[in-house]
Amino acid sequence: MIWRLAAGMARLLPPEAAHRAAVMTLRHRIGPVPDLPPITVSVAGLEFTNPLGLAAGFDKDAACPDGALRLGFGHVELGTITPHPQPGNPRPRVFRLAGDRAVINRYGFNSRGMEAAAAGLARRRETGRGPAQGGIIGINVGANKTSAAPTDDYRIAVARLAGFADYITLNISSPNTPGLRDLQTADNLRLLIAAGRAGLAEAGCERPLFIKLAPDLAPADIEAIAATAVAEGVAGLIATNTTIARPDGLRSATAVEAGGLSGAPLYALSTHVLAEMAGRLPAGGPVLVGAGGVASGWQAYAKILVGASLVQLYTALALEGPELPARVISDLAALMAADGVTDIAAARGQIPDADKAMQHALRLAQSA
Ligand SMILES: Cc1cc2nc3c(=O)[nH]c(=O)nc-3n(C[C@H](O)[C@H](O)[C@H](O)COP(=O)(O)O)c2cc1C
Repeated sequence: MIWRLAAGMARLLPPEAAHRAAVMTLRHRIGPVPDLPPITVSVAGLEFTNPLGLAAGFDKDAACPDGALRLGFGHVELGTITPHPQPGNPRPRVFRLAGDRAVINRYGFNSRGMEAAAAGLARRRETGRGPAQGGIIGINVGANKTSAAPTDDYRIAVARLAGFADYITLNISSPNTPGLRDLQTADNLRLLIAAGRAGLAEAGCERPLFIKLAPDLAPADIEAIAATAVAEGVAGLIATNTTIARPDGLRSATAVEAGGLSGAPLYALSTHVLAEMAGRLPAGGPVLVGAGGVASGWQAYAKILVGASLVQLYTALALEGPELPARVISDLAALMAADGVTDIAAARGQIPDADKAMQHALRLAQSA
């Protein structure tokens, strides 16, 4: 009830103000904790209570990790955090596409910087919570817009923040920082991974390294990224970030805004990229995290069926409110039971064709 009221009021605010209000609300850790079926999954040596996570971008400054975990998520990815504070792009920079169940953002890594995030995370640790206690914390890092050596920014941010994280994500797929996505080419990717590893060595800790990819990749790019990720022993790939494409059929006037599109229109595109990536990774290679347009249990299930070990969402939470994650997790558990699979490992990769996986999961949900 309290959540429904808060979510209803948030929809009346401009999107950036609604986002700030949501972060403030979760910071205070109010609201009921849902009672959820455990769907445990072991990924990159970490034990997740369920496969659903909050994608990066919601909590860019590590302000409310525990409030977000209380919504039912098995993990929360904080960030993108940059070494230095930066304001991001001029406002307005985030737009609802209400009729399309989508958002366009061009925040441009507005961040209070790694020192502010580290200070908050250190306080969290002092008060008894910390990595691997009551939920997995990923920290997603990126480069400052005006950095002369963007690759080095990843090393610096990893070195400062890895001690607070269960896993690290190198974000090279935001469309809102000029040149960032060029890091996805094989040669640059090798340098980036080396920078991430150097950061971990400086921090004196071992952490799984994940890399977050754009959906706007040609098959040859996907091939090269997969080969490099395997050769370099990357722990995981997150597919995908927002898209610069504007799929046919968008109805909202705000669809013309520049930036990355997320939500429903990204669902099929990101699931196809995920499936293409899965088809190029050997067993025992990097794990996959499916993100893009997930708003229901069947959509999460289809991403697992094509090969994801974990699933993340953000836009549907913003559009539908804080009860959504619990609904997705319960529905996912019910769909797995209806399919006769007992755990994520048994479901993962069972239907490698993206269209068939989506059809199967949707049909299962419709017949439930
Ligand atoms: C407003 C907004 C801000 C975002 N900021 C980031 C970010 O800072 N770093 C990042 O890796 N992804 C960011 N993303 C991308 C999401 O993490 C996610 O990959 C993408 O939105 C697809 O999932 P969704 O359709 O469930 O939102 C952002 C998305 C939105 C909507």
